[in-house]
Amino acid sequence: MNHLLKLSDLSTEEIHDILNLADQLKYERQNNIPHKHLEGKTLGMIFQKSSTRTRVSFEVGMYELGGNALFLSSRDLQIGRGEPVQDTARVLGRYLNGIMIRTFEQKEVEDLAKFGGIPVINGLTDYCHPCQVLADLMTIREYKGSLEGCKLVYIGDGNNMANSLIVGGIKCGMTVVTACPEGYRPDKDIMEWAKSTGRYECTDNVLEAAKDADALYTDVWASMGQEGEAEERKKIFAGYQINSDVMAVAKKDAIVLHCLPAHRGEEITDEVMEKYADSIFNEAENRLHVQKAVLVKCMKK
Ligand code: CP
Ligand code: NVA
Repeated sequence: MNHLLKLSDLSTEEIHDILNLADQLKYERQNNIPHKHLEGKTLGMIFQKSSTRTRVSFEVGMYELGGNALFLSSRDLQIGRGEPVQDTARVLGRYLNGIMIRTFEQKEVEDLAKFGGIPVINGLTDYCHPCQVLADLMTIREYKGSLEGCKLVYIGDGNNMANSLIVGGIKCGMTVVTACPEGYRPDKDIMEWAKSTGRYECTDNVLEAAKDADALYTDVWASMGQEGEAEERKKIFAGYQINSDVMAVAKKDAIVLHCLPAHRGEEITDEVMEKYADSIFNEAENRLHVQKAVLVKCMKK
C-alpha cells in the first residue's frame, strides 16, 4: 500500500489487513510492548481545516511508532498564499517520509500523491474520510465480532462520512442504508456502485432505515466550510436525528457511532450520546490504533 487517498482504492483484503494490524497494535500498546516500526521517519501533517482527533491521534501515533510528526497549518505554509500543490508536494517529498493532509478538495490530495513521491494519507476532504471509517469498521468488528452481514445505518448529510461508510461497509460485507434528505444524498457514483452490489439502499425515511440496525451512525448537519449554511441546514435536517424513537426500532444490542465532534440536540440527542458513550469514545480511541496501522503499511519499507 503506497497511499490512503480513498477507501475505493483498497481491496477488501487490504482493509482487513489494516484492521488486523490495528488490533495487534492496540494490544501491544495496552501491554506496553514496544512497536517502533517507523524509527527515524517524519510525517508532515497539513491542516486546512480544524481538528482535534485527527491531529492528536496522528501525532501521538507517530511518536509511539518511534518517529516524528510535524504540524503544518496551511495558514503558515506558502500553500495558503497560493503556492501550487504540485510544487509543495515536490519540496515536502524531499524532507519528509509521509504526508497526512486535511483539506477541501479531493483533487488536492490526489495531486500531492502524484507529485510528492512519498506516501500520502487523506485526513478528511469534502469527499471522504477514510481514516475515520477504518476506525469505525474496527469498532463495529470489536462490538459485533464480524462485519459480514451487519446492517449499518447512516442518518444525516450525505457527504464525506456517508461516502466513506458506504464504500467501507459494502467492501466488508455489510448492508448499508443511508437516510438523507433529497438534495443531500451521497455521491452519485458511489451510490450507483453500492446499489449494484444489492446491499445498499438510500431513503429519506429515518425510521424505515433504522429498522433492525446493528450500528447507527450520524454526523453534523453542517460540516467544516459550511458554517454559513448552519441555520438553513437546521431546517432541512430536522428529523434526521438519532434519538430514542430511532433506537427503539434498531436491534436491541445495536451500537451508536459518531465521528465527532457532535452537536447534541441536532443530529443526536444528549440522551443517546450518553447512553452510547462507550462505543462512541472507543471509536474515537480506535482512530489512534487504525492510523498507526495505516502509517506502518504506507511508510515502513
Ligand atoms: N472525527 C474527526 O476527524 O475529528 P477531528 O475533526 O477532531 O479530527
Ligand atoms: N462531516 C464532518 C466530519 C468531521 C469529522 C466535516 O466535514 O466537518
